[in-house]
This record gives sequence, C-alpha cells and structure tokens, in this order.
Amino acid sequence: MSAHEMTTIDGCMHVLKSRDLRQALYDEAALMMEHALVNLHGAEHRARRNVEAKVFRKDVFLRYEKEVLPATLEETIAPYLEAGRGDLVDIGYRIMMNLTVDFTGIDRAERSAEETEELIRLLKEFSLAPALGQSRGDDVEDKKARIRAAMATFSERFLEPSIARRETLIADVEAGRLADDALPRDVLTMLLREREAIGLSEEALLQEGIFYVLAGAHTTIHSLSHAVHELLTWLDAHPEDIARLREDPFFIQQCVFESLRLHPSSPVARRRALCPVHLPEGEDIAAGDAVTANLYEANRDETIFGADAGSFNPRRHVEGKVAPHGVSMGMGMHACLGRNLAIGVEPRPGTSADDHQFGIVPLIVRALLQAGVRPDPEGKARKDETITRITWAEYPVLLRPEEALL
Ligand code: HEM
Repeated sequence: MSAHEMTTIDGCMHVLKSRDLRQALYDEAALMMEHALVNLHGAEHRARRNVEAKVFRKDVFLRYEKEVLPATLEETIAPYLEAGRGDLVDIGYRIMMNLTVDFTGIDRAERSAEETEELIRLLKEFSLAPALGQSRGDDVEDKKARIRAAMATFSERFLEPSIARRETLIADVEAGRLADDALPRDVLTMLLREREAIGLSEEALLQEGIFYVLAGAHTTIHSLSHAVHELLTWLDAHPEDIARLREDPFFIQQCVFESLRLHPSSPVARRRALCPVHLPEGEDIAAGDAVTANLYEANRDETIFGADAGSFNPRRHVEGKVAPHGVSMGMGMHACLGRNLAIGVEPRPGTSADDHQFGIVPLIVRALLQAGVRPDPEGKARKDETITRITWAEYPVLLRPEEALL
C-alpha cells in the first residue's frame, strides 16, 4: 500500500469530493471518534448528517449572533476588562466553550465558574484524541487512558442529565402536553428525536456529543487567536487600513477568512480508497491506499492566491471557484456543518450589514477590538509547536477600551 499527497487546491478538492475515498484521519482516535459523524461514510453518514443539519439553519445562527453571543461575550469579557488584561487563548476558551455546549445540547446545570473550568479541562483531554496518530509510541497508552477517563466524566456529569431532560421534554411533546417549539434547538435534541430512525447507539451518542464540543470549540478558539494576531500585526504595518476597519462592516470578516486560509485548524485531511481511484491530477490510487489532502499547502497555492500566497493580506481578491479561506472548512460530504455559524457567509456586492451573517469568530474579533485589545508588552506570546496543528498556547493581551481602534 502506498501513500499519496495532494498539495494543490484542485488536488485537495478532488480528494475531498470523491465518494470512493473514506475518512481516515481519525483511525488512531477510534476509541473516541469511530462513530462520530466525521468518521462515517455512505448511507449512515448521509442519514445522520441530514438529521443534524436541521439545527444548522439561518434563523438559528442569527439568534446565536444577535442574542446568545452578545450576552455570553459581555459576561465572559467583563472580568478581563476589569483587570485590564488577560490571555487571548483563555478568553477564547471561555466564550466558545459555553456557546458550543449550548449548541450541542449539553446543559450547564450550575452555570458556575467551576463547571466551565471542568468543561474546558475535558475539552483539552478530548483534543488529545485526533492527534494520537502523531503521538510518540511510548505515551499513546497513557493518553488513551486519560481520554477514556474524560469520556466517562463527561458522560456522567454532563451528557446523561442532558439526555434525561430532553427525553422528558420530547415525551411531553409527543403526548401533546408541550408545544413542539418549546423543545431546545440543539443537536442532541434533534438526534434523540430521530434516534430509532437512524439507529443511534449509546456509544455513538456519547462520541457525537464529544465530537461536537471538539469540532465547535477547539477550531474556533484557535482561529480566533490567529485572526486577532494577524489583524493587529497588519494594522501596525498598514495604519491606513484603520479607516477601512472603521468604515467597512465586512473588513473584519475578510481578515478572518484570510487568517483561516493561512492557518487551517486541521493542516491536513486524510482519506482511504475504497476502490481504485484515478485523480485528474494524474495520480492512481489503489484500493486501501491512503491519500492526504494537504490543506495548509493548498491554501498557499500561488496559481490561485497569487505570488504573496504565503503572507496575510486582507486586500487579496480571490477569483472563481475558491473560497477566500481556501479549503480550510473542508468540502464534499464532510464539508464543515458549522461553517456559517463560525465564520458567517461571504458578503456579495450589495449585501446589507443589517441581516448579514458575520459568524461568531469575526464578531468576537470585533468585540475584542472594541475592548481595545493589543499584545501585552510585558507578556510573551507562545505557540504550541508540539502538535502538527500550530496554535497559540498563550497570547497575553491588554484590554484598554479608551484606546480602542473601533
Ligand atoms: C473556524 C472554525 C472551524 C473550522 C476551521 C472547521 C473546520 C472543519 C473541517 C476542515 C471539516 C472537515 C473535516 C474533514 O473533511 O475531514 C469540518 C467538519 C465538521 N465541522 Fe467544522 N470547523 C469549524 C467550526 C465548526 C463549528 C462551530 C461546528 C459546530 C457547531 C462545526 C461542526 C462540524 C461538523 C459537524 C463537521 C463534520 C461534518 C461531516 O462529517 O459531515 N465546525 N470542520
């Protein structure tokens, strides 16, 4: 069996769109991800995705943008504003953790600081799983034990009570005691309503709940810190764009797309051939062969993004079939379901800012700019280079609303 790698936009698109190639990135993480949506294929994947997609509607997203996010932001940023400083990664964890568990359908019964801390701790333990394939052999068993322990805690403390509450509500709706629109609009409720129809086991329900927390929170947190860093660095070098930041309501979203292109939260996607596959780029993939779609490299494809493809430039115009964020949100059957929630919809000429979907990451960046975010000269930002997806591990910032650019 041989391995293949695609490093161009066209090559990656073909890999991601081929139905004869199945998910292979999470083979080592089977203990936590075997039954998660992103690891399913064919009819099973389609049936599950169709059920979950019902929650990913424009009206649900706009409610998150206009009601849920502003309240969460205010509550989360307040202590940092009072202190005048904080850590960007830390702030991201606190905002996104609560939003994501809400969207997934995990109740925070206490809404206490300790409860949020525990969820963040669990999220960090879960994030060990997708990287197991790149772990050194000697610590794999130790990491697996930590993941299993975190799964058990999550199930007992968070998932089981959330399932029980929703099952009671669903029974009330079915008996006519409660109106249908009184049910929570989250992924867990949707899955429980269709549980028999799509044959969802307990293990699958647990893995799906965990996958959503990971897919929703982890990706956005790291996209947020990259975007703030790139934007502040750009404005330092191009102070003339501060006027654009103030006048163009879509500029921040454009910066988030550009940052996401350079920093895909997963640098690669991986698939395995179910039968012989011929890729238009000339590669022949034998059944059983693995194919890597190198999203990081493809997003730097100079034939698509120009000679300066390797650098951050929010003035860039990308023509044609490719999104401004490249292939960072995936494509084909596993294309990110949370895309519009996370980064919004691409504005078109004539788009009005009033009912535009900006996405949670651009809106958080805006709120941080309004809070006067800037790197703390006394702190030292540090990247986590121990994993294949390079992220900011620490990013100390000052929050000075009186010096805000917005
Ligand atoms: C900036 C933030 C995000 C990034 C960069 C991102 C990226 C991705 C990528 C690359 C994939 C495809 C994986 C593959 O092909 O193997 C994916 C799938 C997925 N994402 Fe996201 N994602 C983000 C935010 C979210 C959010 C907020 C949610 C949910 C609330 C979400 C839910 C999902 C789901 C459910 C899938 C699996 C879809 C399927 O297998 O059919 N994502 N995401």
